[in-house]
Amino acid sequence: MASHGVDRLNTYEIMVVDDSPIILDLLRNLLKSEGYMVRTAISGEMALQSIYLRIPDLILLDVKMPEMDGFEVCRQLKSTESTLEIPIIYLSAMDETAHKVEGFKAGGVDYITKPFQSEEVLARVKTHLQIRELAESLEQKVSERTIALTQANKDLRQEILQRQKTESALQQARDNLERMVEERTAELSIKNRQLTAEIEKHHKTEEALRASEIKYRTIFETTASATMIIENEGTLSLVNTEFERLTGFTKAQVEGKKKWTEFVFEGDLGMMERYGRLRRNDQKAAPRNYECRVIGRNGKIRNIFVTVEMMPGTDQSVVSFLDVSKLKQIEQSLRESERRLHYLSSRLLVAQENERQRISMEIHDELGQNLAVLKLELTTLAGRLRRDQGALKIEFNTILEFIDGMIEEMRRISRDLSPSIIQDLKLCRSLEWMLHDFNKHTDICVSIKMIDINAMFDTKEQILIYRIFQEALNNIRKHAQARHVSVIMKNDNGTLRISIEDDGKGFKVDEIWHRHVADRGLGIASLEERTRMLGGTFDLKSQQGKGTRLTVTIPVGSKRGAA
Ligand SMILES: Nc1ncnc2c1ncn2[C@@H]1O[C@H](COP(=O)(O)OP(=O)(O)OP(=O)(O)O)[C@@H](O)[C@H]1O
Ligand SMILES: [Mg+2]
Repeated sequence: MASHGVDRLNTYEIMVVDDSPIILDLLRNLLKSEGYMVRTAISGEMALQSIYLRIPDLILLDVKMPEMDGFEVCRQLKSTESTLEIPIIYLSAMDETAHKVEGFKAGGVDYITKPFQSEEVLARVKTHLQIRELAESLEQKVSERTIALTQANKDLRQEILQRQKTESALQQARDNLERMVEERTAELSIKNRQLTAEIEKHHKTEEALRASEIKYRTIFETTASATMIIENEGTLSLVNTEFERLTGFTKAQVEGKKKWTEFVFEGDLGMMERYGRLRRNDQKAAPRNYECRVIGRNGKIRNIFVTVEMMPGTDQSVVSFLDVSKLKQIEQSLRESERRLHYLSSRLLVAQENERQRISMEIHDELGQNLAVLKLELTTLAGRLRRDQGALKIEFNTILEFIDGMIEEMRRISRDLSPSIIQDLKLCRSLEWMLHDFNKHTDICVSIKMIDINAMFDTKEQILIYRIFQEALNNIRKHAQARHVSVIMKNDNGTLRISIEDDGKGFKVDEIWHRHVADRGLGIASLEERTRMLGGTFDLKSQQGKGTRLTVTIPVGSKRGAA
């Protein structure tokens, strides 16, 4: 059945089944007049054939018909799938309820009692068509709703699936997150442990630093020298107690307030500033220690010995200084007494020389004369001896020879005491003669390399040089046990260099200064003093078992005046 609106009932086709042609006509006309399409059948069989060929929208079915009654027709139609839904309205003259019940059981929807009223027929037809229409529409709606619900169900399943996927992804993400949190926690706990260890280490370092700070501050404070730390621009940032004592200023007056230049004596400031500039470029460019003067609060000037050191890796310098004012005074008086001593010893040597000359002359004049007289008298006596006094004459001669020896010895002593030989032979020859004599009396081989120095020195100086040689050779003879002596004298670029070297047993030079005064000879001291009197320098080198070398250098020529 086509879908039509209920207001268009005339498009419906109605099958009328009745064995009465009159009723058939009547109903056909009635229904047609209402606009319905009408098909008619005169028997049940014919009706079924027609209905199976084309399904009508409603059937008006006569109950009482020969051969096949209306209930049977109805039952057959209701048992067939295609005709099952067609609304069937019975037409019957019987009005008993039992009859009607049978008709409804067979599948009819309504019942019109004959003789029927046209309005009733039309009303019932219309009603059932509307019901049919509504049922179909309802069915349509149910079907549409079912489709929509199926789709919604499908969508829901889809969504559930999607949700499940999302949930599983979420679970995965949650698992990952948990794993990451676990890993991070483990990492953090390691970091935490490391941090704790580091903090502990830091604490220990801090403690050590504090202890070290106390230690160094104590050293800084208790050191005997005034110590300060100077910043790059010259401000004193730290000073110690000794600094306070020496300068008379308190730490509060100095630290961060005063510059080092305020404490320096004006005359030394230039030098110290220059050192400071040099030191900042190169630590080694300026001296680390030097002496200068500082002025204290009371204006008192002190001599100090400064030590300056840059603090590694900083622009700061550490300066410490010792008050050497007293030392300076002592040094001054020592120098003074040394000067006096030199003066005394040189005066002593001069006096000794004069005394030697006096003794020498006395020996020569007195003793020499007497011996000469003695020799003359003995010679005269010997001449008076008789021929038979031969033995006595021999004795006289022996005595005379002895006196000759005495005279010779006396001359030597006199010569040694006063080297008048210098006047006769000049210095060089006198020295050669001395060395020759040394060789003769000692069996020590002497080699000589000398230049002519006679014109270089006056008589007094020549005597000093002569005495130096004399003492050096005496020492070799007395102490060295040498086999060979080498004497070299040369002019070394305006400096006379005398070297007297032996190959004897040698000695420890330093040791002789530690000897008791009674055991200490005068030889080396006088050598030194004489060299000094000549304006020269003296050097004594000796090695045990290898010999001794004495070197005396004396400025000559133009250098002499300068010395
Ligand atoms: N050439 C030398 N070889 C070995 N020892 C030497 C030599 N010259 C000096 N000495 C040692 O140095 C010491 C000091 O010598 P120095 O001339 O001052 O005193 P001295 O010879 O002992 O006494 P003095 O010179 O007063 O007679 C000597 O006692 C000797 O031990
Ligand atoms: Mg000596």
